[in-house]
Amino acid sequence: MATDVHRPVTPTVTQAVRVEGLSRTFDGRAVIDDLRLDIAPGEFVALLGRSGCGKSTLLRILAGLDRDIKGTALVPRRRAVAFQAPRLMPWKKVWRNVLLGLPGKPERARAERTLDEVGLGHRAGAWPKTLSGGEAQRASLARALVREPDLLLLDEPFGALDALTRIKAQHLVAEVWQRRGCAVLLVTHDVEEAVLLADRVLVMDDGRIAHEQHVGLDRPRDITDPRFAELRAGLLRRLGVDTA
Ligand SMILES: Nc1ncnc2c1ncn2[C@@H]1O[C@H](COP(=O)(O)OP(=O)(O)OP(=O)(O)O)[C@@H](O)[C@H]1O
Ligand SMILES: [Mg+2]
Repeated sequence: MATDVHRPVTPTVTQAVRVEGLSRTFDGRAVIDDLRLDIAPGEFVALLGRSGCGKSTLLRILAGLDRDIKGTALVPRRRAVAFQAPRLMPWKKVWRNVLLGLPGKPERARAERTLDEVGLGHRAGAWPKTLSGGEAQRASLARALVREPDLLLLDEPFGALDALTRIKAQHLVAEVWQRRGCAVLLVTHDVEEAVLLADRVLVMDDGRIAHEQHVGLDRPRDITDPRFAELRAGLLRRLGVDTA
């Protein structure tokens, strides 16, 4: 029987994330129900599922923001999360936002290096309200990356971006992931984005992982490849969308 723990641990050699028998109930309703999930170090996993199925709830638990759970959720001590809304503090300049919550007195240069990595070094001294949507999202990503996470949790980080900015942001995340080698769990509604970026795509339903699909295509991936289309169609069917 699973116990009531939420223990951040240093990742084991074999797994970055180990979730077993995880349940989360809201007002007597089990939104997460005996869920099991393993993520390997450096693995990129995308999480799909209909609205309200519990994706963000799972992410919040893995981020350590919700501890009212049953079961086991073992995650790396170094983990960071970025949400759909960039959540920048308007009264702090971009570089200060990036360093927000870090222990000690981190140097501005540290923020600037990470902002450089997401192509935003030139806006380090700007106020958040002067950033475009894509820039704000990149600042939010920098705030996650500055923590040098072993696990990067992304909750629909591209959801509010226009199509072109979104494609650029997807490339950026792929690039950062390849350079950093951290495990990523990306929540998205976009099946194409999932197949484009992930090693493995999960579909959540009824409070657990109902389906998983390995994506064995070489990177960078070609969305016009028939194998790409096949994977996308299979996942859409799983989500109840008929593409025929
Ligand atoms: N703090 C809370 N109190 C009560 N119910 C909650 C709370 N947080 C989430 N829920 C409920 O849990 C369910 C799952 O919510 P969650 O935000 O995890 O869904 P989601 O899969 O992320 O949906 P979306 O794709 O729309 O973002 C929803 O029915 C939601 O109303
Ligand atoms: Mg959500």
